[in-house]
Amino acid sequence: MNIAILGCGNWGSVFGIIQYRRGHQIKIWEFDKKRAEYIQETRDNSPFLLKYKIPDPILIDWRLENVVENSELIVFAVPCQTLGSVLKEMKKIKIKTGEFLSLIKGIDIKTLLLPSEIINRAYPKEKCYVLSGPSIANEIIRNEPTAVVLAGKNMERAKILQSELTTENLRIYLCDDMTGVEIGGALKNVIAIACGISDGLGFGANAKGALISRGIVEIQRLGVKMGANPRTFYGLSGLGDLVTTSFSEESRNHTFGKKLGQGKSLKEIKKDFVMVAEGVSTVRAVMRLAKKHGVEMPISKVVYEILYKNKSPLNGLRSLMLRPLKNE
Ligand SMILES: NC(=O)c1ccc[n+]([C@@H]2O[C@H](COP(=O)([O-])OP(=O)(O)OC[C@H]3O[C@@H](n4cnc5c(N)ncnc54)[C@H](O)[C@@H]3O)[C@@H](O)[C@H]2O)c1
Repeated sequence: MNIAILGCGNWGSVFGIIQYRRGHQIKIWEFDKKRAEYIQETRDNSPFLLKYKIPDPILIDWRLENVVENSELIVFAVPCQTLGSVLKEMKKIKIKTGEFLSLIKGIDIKTLLLPSEIINRAYPKEKCYVLSGPSIANEIIRNEPTAVVLAGKNMERAKILQSELTTENLRIYLCDDMTGVEIGGALKNVIAIACGISDGLGFGANAKGALISRGIVEIQRLGVKMGANPRTFYGLSGLGDLVTTSFSEESRNHTFGKKLGQGKSLKEIKKDFVMVAEGVSTVRAVMRLAKKHGVEMPISKVVYEILYKNKSPLNGLRSLMLRPLKNE
C-alpha cells in the first residue's frame, strides 16, 4: 500500500518504519520545513526518535501535497490540538484516497470532539478508522511485541486494514466501538498523569493499583454517557493502555505526572518537554465533558486542579481519600 503519514514525531516515524519493513511504501509529512529537510537528508529524527535512523526509501517532506498524492491510506499522527489546522491545510489540496487512520489519543479542547469526529467533519464521505491500545513507540521500534485494536464502522474494510498493517510484533484486533476506543485512549493519559504524581510523591503499588482501578471506572462512566460500549474499557484500548501508560518509564504522561509529584511546576516541566503529553490538554476537555454529561470524575478533577489551579500534588491525592465513603 502507498501510505501517507502526517506527523514525523515519535509514533508517526516509528509507525512509518514498521510499516515500511512490512513492505508498504511510506511518505511522511513533517510540518516544520527545516526539520523535514534535515530528516530527509540525515535520516535522523531526534529528539523524537533516538538510536534509530529512518530508512532512505521513506520520503520526508514538508509539502503536504507531495506526501498525500497517490496515497491509499492517510494516517494522522499529529498532536490532537493541531488536527483541525492540519485538516484545513489538507482541504486545500486534492486527495485520492477515501480512507483515513487516526493514531491520535486526545480530545479537542475547543470543540470537545474526538479525533475521528474531527476528521469526519472535514471529510464526511470518507471512512475513518482508529488504531489504539498499548503502543509505546520506543518499545515497538525495538521489536518488542504488543497488541492493539483497530476500530471502525466498516468492518469488512477494517479487516483488510487489519491484515495489511499487522506485523509480527504488532498484533491487531478489531472493534466496532470507535467512541469507546477513542475515549479510552484519550482519558488513560489523564489517569497516567495521576499515577505519575503518585510515583513522584513516593507512594507505592497500592496507591497506583487503586488509581488505575478507580480510574477505569470514571473513564467508563463518561464513555457510556457518550455512547460507548462499557466492555470496550476493559480491553486493549482501555485498561490495557491505561496499565501500560501508568507503569512505563517511557510514557510521557506518566513522566510528566512524576515530575509534578516531585514538586516541579507545569511551566518548568513544559520548558524541558519537546514532545506532547496529550493528557495535559485532554484533562481540560474532560472537565467540560464531565460537567456536560453530569458524571463524577474525581481523579481527573484532581489532576486538573494540580495542573491548572495550583493545588499541591500531595493535597490533591489526599483529597481523594477524604471523599464520602461509598460502595465499589
Ligand atoms: N509516542 C507514542 O508512543 C504514541 C503511541 C500511541 C499514540 N500516540 C499518539 O500519537 C499522536 C502523536 O504522538 P507522537 O508521540 O508522535 O507526538 P510527538 O510529540 O512525538 O510528535 C508530534 C509531531 O507533530 C508535529 N507537529 C507539532 N505541531 C504541529 C502542528 N501545529 N501542525 C502539524 N504538525 C505538528 C511535530 O513536528 C511532530 O512531527 C498523539 O496523539 C499521541 O497521543 C503516541
